[in-house]
Amino acid sequence: MSERFDFDEVVDRRGTSSTKHEKFGADVLPLWVADMDFRSPRVVLEALKSRIDHGVLGYTDTPPELIEVIQARLRQRYDWEVSAEELVFIPGVVTGLNLACRALCGPDDAVMTSVPIYQPFMTAPAFSGRRLIRVPARREEGCWRLDIDGLEAAAKAGARLLLLCNPHNPLGRVLTPEELESVASLCERYNVIICSDEIHCDLLFDGRCHTPMATLSSTVAERTVTFLAPSKTFNLAGLGGAFAVIRNSALREALLEAQQGIVPHTSFAAYTAMIAAYRQGEPWRLALIDYLQGNRDFLAAYFGRREAIDMTPVEATYLAWLDVSSLKLDDPAAFFESFGLGMSAGDDFGDGRFMRLNFGCSRLVLEEAVRRFDRALNMTQT
Ligand SMILES: Cc1ncc(COP(=O)(O)O)c(C=O)c1O
Repeated sequence: MSERFDFDEVVDRRGTSSTKHEKFGADVLPLWVADMDFRSPRVVLEALKSRIDHGVLGYTDTPPELIEVIQARLRQRYDWEVSAEELVFIPGVVTGLNLACRALCGPDDAVMTSVPIYQPFMTAPAFSGRRLIRVPARREEGCWRLDIDGLEAAAKAGARLLLLCNPHNPLGRVLTPEELESVASLCERYNVIICSDEIHCDLLFDGRCHTPMATLSSTVAERTVTFLAPSKTFNLAGLGGAFAVIRNSALREALLEAQQGIVPHTSFAAYTAMIAAYRQGEPWRLALIDYLQGNRDFLAAYFGRREAIDMTPVEATYLAWLDVSSLKLDDPAAFFESFGLGMSAGDDFGDGRFMRLNFGCSRLVLEEAVRRFDRALNMTQT
């Protein structure tokens, strides 16, 4: 009999110093930072327990088994052949974004990214003293697209590194192969290195398929650094574990050099969890996608009825990008918090007209959220 997974259970996360749950008081639903409220797959928890039970928790090299598991996964899912030496393990994708800005372009080069975007894309260039060129995404009939002409103008203005997010946080878009081709060809023309954060690639809805940027062609692979991790998919963010795929040895050496003496090694716990998640977590992941898709549909139906808030169609991830601009609020985050809704402010992503809602939680929590939205929206109409 196949295993059942209970995503409806509301797990009490208080008392675990959870970043998500400690930010607000008990009367506010935490619907912000991108981790989910579900327990990680049982197979992962059991692998961790048995590793802890061994009792000796010393320095740990990257297990060869993990390399094999990743290689097999990339081959099966994307027909992507990756050699062991192309893999660089890091304690987090945000670490990778910061390393990329330091290592993959010169101090006088600019870094470009499409906004709105997950905040570290905007802070990483500044932390390494690089100029950031923000290229606003285009919104056409409710659908967001990268502005290819805008990216080209940024390249002409000196951008030599592109920080790309696909699937996109917060827009929830899965870039099509055609969109990726246009980005890649412009990067070829202007000799721009592509840093492609694909951390959300395992949570795609409606049968969509992810295309890794580096699989477009071998020339694209030569200028692309891809960041991946099982942390979003299997809810392992607190363990810190990710990896880069870097075919080009010069780019790889530059990144490895930039991390020397600064970036800590990846922990044995992250390695253990990564192996178990990738090797045995597939039934859980498929059930999770079904559940999240149901949550997305529930929210989309609700905001379809309450037209004061426009929800961007969500193609991937558990993050909904809500246009609250018609409410004309001075401080949308404070307003919704006063109704017990703890979302992320759009300002954090570069667009204050929006709020981001994390729906990686039990449907019961979302039902309560919707009741609170009703109260908040009714208030704006009186
Ligand atoms: C696009 C993206 N990249 C990276 C991260 C964080 O990655 P890590 O925890 O591995 O630093 C997030 C988390 O929300 C994210 O959405």
